[in-house]
Amino acid sequence: MSAHAMAASPTGIASIGLHFPSLSMAVEELAQLRGQDPDKYTIGLGCEEMSICPPDTSVVELATEAARRALDRWGGSADRIGMIAVGTETAVDMSRPLSAWVADHLGLKGAIRSYEVKHACYGGTLAVRQAAEWRMSGAAGDQAALVVAADVAMYEEGDPGEPTQGAGGVAMLIDEPRIARIEPISYPWSEPHFDFWRPVGESYPRVDGQLSLDCYKRAAENCFKAMIGKRDPEAVLHELAAICFHVPFPKMVRKAFYRVGEFLDLNAERIDGFFQEKIYPTMLWNRLCGNAYTASLWISVAQALKGLAAGERVAAFSYGSGFGAELMMLEAGPEAAAGAWEQDVARDLAGRERIDAKGYSELRGAKS
Ligand code: COA
Repeated sequence: MSAHAMAASPTGIASIGLHFPSLSMAVEELAQLRGQDPDKYTIGLGCEEMSICPPDTSVVELATEAARRALDRWGGSADRIGMIAVGTETAVDMSRPLSAWVADHLGLKGAIRSYEVKHACYGGTLAVRQAAEWRMSGAAGDQAALVVAADVAMYEEGDPGEPTQGAGGVAMLIDEPRIARIEPISYPWSEPHFDFWRPVGESYPRVDGQLSLDCYKRAAENCFKAMIGKRDPEAVLHELAAICFHVPFPKMVRKAFYRVGEFLDLNAERIDGFFQEKIYPTMLWNRLCGNAYTASLWISVAQALKGLAAGERVAAFSYGSGFGAELMMLEAGPEAAAGAWEQDVARDLAGRERIDAKGYSELRGAKS
């Protein structure tokens, strides 16, 4: 192999595409249906709306359309794509990877490593890391990776997780760092637990809700501890333009950041200050679409990057039950400021048809 082929390539996000399904419902409608106080969902969990798939939309359409939008914006030649990695926990087949459906719809074939990554909500981040490290290693040469994170989050009717449901897809071309450079060092943490899992053949996840909260908080604490090291925590957090989290529901993020802040010896006022300034604004799109599992963190990252000046840094904390977590660091590139991918959000989220409790019940009846 030539020295040229093994040279590490500048690596990051070169384009972003997002896609959300065409239906939405306010969580207050679900509260009415389940006989719950709506404040439990809106204040207790911090949820607002959920994106819902109509019968003709599945994770395949979410992943494919997000990928199509990212590819259109990228503007590169398809023969430069050497990897398609799709993170999802909404598998449509136990063998055939979701990446094969995406490749089929987009006419991508040839000298491409194409596969699916599974690790609950962490799968999309693993796909991003694999693509980035493939380029950083030099093994990719001048090739780019198409990475997709897409999921449909549905719980059994009446399950405590039902108000956190959602759906969406995010696709990224991992190539030149036009939108964001991916920093080579990241901070993983994993522990084997049964906090959230879906046995083969079952339609809905089984969840030990309280355990999943504890695991998520412990993972966040350990990842941030490793990232901050011996430096002054306030200075490190202050220097970040935004801190993005996987958003199973917004209150979870608040709880996790409180745990991190307490561990770092910050008082409640400082923790609140950082949360309001650097975290809460990154969850606007998440609050409108609900939990989209693997896509959730990347929806938040896409929102945070939009409008940043080149050089501003973002932290991205990924968590997947089971559990595995990783804190990544990104640095905005020259195309972050324009935020071209915002038009996907404006088109999809604003254009959704709102359904009520009756419509939702009919849809669930039709789906089961
Ligand atoms: N008004 C305002 N707040 C209310 C309320 C009301 N009427 N009723 C309850 N609440 C609050 C509770 O105090 C609680 O807040 P707190 O944790 O800050 O004290 C919150 O609403 C949730 O109530 P809780 O009884 O704990 O909810 P739950 O057990 O029915 O469900 C989860 C919560 C997280 C367990 C559930 O949504 C779930 O299983 N989600 C899926 C798993 C998940 O997302 N895990 C996260 C890590 S990946």
